[in-house]
Amino acid sequence: MQQLADPKQSLPLEISPGPGDGRSLDDLLAWVATEKSALETSLLKHGALRFHGFDIPDAQAFERLALAISPDLKNQYLGTSPRNARSEFTFTASELPPHYPIMQHCEMSFLPSAPTRLFFACTMASGAAGETPMADCRAVWRGLAPAVRGRFAERGIRIIRNYGPPTGGSRLDPWQLKSWPEVFGTQDRAEVEATAAREGTRCEWREDGGLRLLREQPAMQRHPLTGEEVWFNHAQVFHSEAARFEYRHILRRQPSLRSLGVTALLESLTAAKRVLRRPDDFATHCTYADGSEIPVADIRHLIDVFWRHMVFPRWERGDVVVIDNFSTSHGRMPFHGPREILVAFTQGQVVAA
Ligand SMILES: [Fe+2]
Repeated sequence: MQQLADPKQSLPLEISPGPGDGRSLDDLLAWVATEKSALETSLLKHGALRFHGFDIPDAQAFERLALAISPDLKNQYLGTSPRNARSEFTFTASELPPHYPIMQHCEMSFLPSAPTRLFFACTMASGAAGETPMADCRAVWRGLAPAVRGRFAERGIRIIRNYGPPTGGSRLDPWQLKSWPEVFGTQDRAEVEATAAREGTRCEWREDGGLRLLREQPAMQRHPLTGEEVWFNHAQVFHSEAARFEYRHILRRQPSLRSLGVTALLESLTAAKRVLRRPDDFATHCTYADGSEIPVADIRHLIDVFWRHMVFPRWERGDVVVIDNFSTSHGRMPFHGPREILVAFTQGQVVAA
């Protein structure tokens, strides 16, 4: 098999059939079995592997490849994206509308035990855009201005999530997340509190029946295997001002009337939110660990640094990407037309700051 890294950017390492190599799933599985340890080393170094040019057409084939690389796949999901199961260990990556940007994040970095690896597969590529960009979060941490990095390092962060009530809440609320019974798979508040406590998260029950989750954590965590310092938290996703800065970058990359419209809408919604709600009541938000606000300029700088480090491999049907979740973030670019990206993820591992 050929293994190629872009000389300008080591992320991801691309693996494709060389001359004379078979491209079937069985060919690839046989190669993975013999190269397992080299693949582990490459994943740690590059942060992501991209299998390209192989015959991996559906969820079942994708699951077999993912299990061959990581037998510890898991199928319980406590994140924020709506997803549908496609096989025992694979899901659609996100059912969020196509225009909705998904900012760079390390999966579930707001929980004490995040998956070590993620797998994505393309079973249907959109005509244009819809990439799953990635960024090296070791480089992001190093790339922050020293004063900004110092504030995050010293003060830590608090992640705030507000999930809707069992009734689903108001359909007119543009910021409403899914309901807490959908997230936890139960309507039993005691059971929810017990699960949250195991995740080091506090529950506050809201008057409207919704649930606020609060958790403090360091902004930087060390990679559990290499010890490297990594930006490992969801501030750039959950901060209430983040989406409008993100969309300014998206508008530059995907200039269109739709991007312009979404950018303008986000700017006005963010301004309205500041007037109408307390920060604790935003669907998601992030403060320093003591509850004081992070300067908005720091959030803007953080998102600029992410964009300087993002890569945008184009999806083709059959592509599979493996990501070291403790060094490398992922997101989603807006797109048009049909598109299906599947995801699988491994068991969690506790990381230490
Ligand atoms: Fe994700």
